[in-house]
Amino acid sequence: MDERSKRPHAALLQLRNVQMQFGGVTALKGISYDVPSGIVQAVIGPNGAGKTTLFHCISGLLTPTAGEILFRGLPIGGLPPHRIAGLGISRTFQHVALFKSMTVLENVMIGRHPRTFSGFWSAGLRFPRMRREERRILEEAGHYLEFVGLSGERDLPAGALPLGKQKILEIARALATQPTLLLLDEPAGGLNMRETEELGELILRICETGITVTLVEHDMNLVMEISHRILVIHYGEHLATGTPEEIKDHPAVIEAYLGGG
Ligand SMILES: Nc1ncnc2c1ncn2[C@@H]1O[C@H](COP(=O)(O)OP(=O)(O)O)[C@@H](O)[C@H]1O
Ligand SMILES: [Mg+2]
Repeated sequence: MDERSKRPHAALLQLRNVQMQFGGVTALKGISYDVPSGIVQAVIGPNGAGKTTLFHCISGLLTPTAGEILFRGLPIGGLPPHRIAGLGISRTFQHVALFKSMTVLENVMIGRHPRTFSGFWSAGLRFPRMRREERRILEEAGHYLEFVGLSGERDLPAGALPLGKQKILEIARALATQPTLLLLDEPAGGLNMRETEELGELILRICETGITVTLVEHDMNLVMEISHRILVIHYGEHLATGTPEEIKDHPAVIEAYLGGG
């Protein structure tokens, strides 16, 4: 049976009339949408549609000017990013945001314990409990690197990796926070065809571990290949929702992309 026909569970994330205004620009004009649990969910739309803004609202970098965002039934709109991360939402950025001079492994360790990391390394006196904790974080970070296929590069500075691998490293770091919901903003941007294929396989493997993945992506082949559901936004408005098959033939979507409307 087609993987994609698997039945979605209850809504993990609920967007209720989410609006975001920047002065005179209304980037989101009232998006309502439920993200079911356990699936790969794509958000597509032309440049400037409001996709990144939507991710910023969900992850707490922006507070919606109106509307509600519920995560597992809890209102999270306006909570600071670290609280939202603590509840189980993790993300990557459209433009890679890594600590380039730190090693690949250290970048993932930061994901595991963003607040205590510097404490571990600066502490002159290390208690056994801390050493144990440190070892555990190290092992876990190693596990995530293995999962994404970057074990061989663990001791290199993150900045020495080619862009494709930096983007995968960002995913590993996001996974290390053990999210329930993972938001990926244009993960295939700048990747070649082979890297994009591998990324698609990785995203499906992440989904199989029970993590719900929401991705903003321009690569339509990738979107159509791996998504169970697609949300289309256009000029900050909800344009369509459906399976890849439904979206592919949706007149309003074809119009938005091809008709210049
Ligand atoms: N911080 C900001 N201040 C003002 N306008 C913004 C800001 N961030 C985004 N915008 C505007 O909001 C709209 C949506 O942007 P964005 O969410 O980045 O689109 P997308 O990710 O779909 O390409 C654009 O018109 C953009 O110029
Ligand atoms: Mg964007």
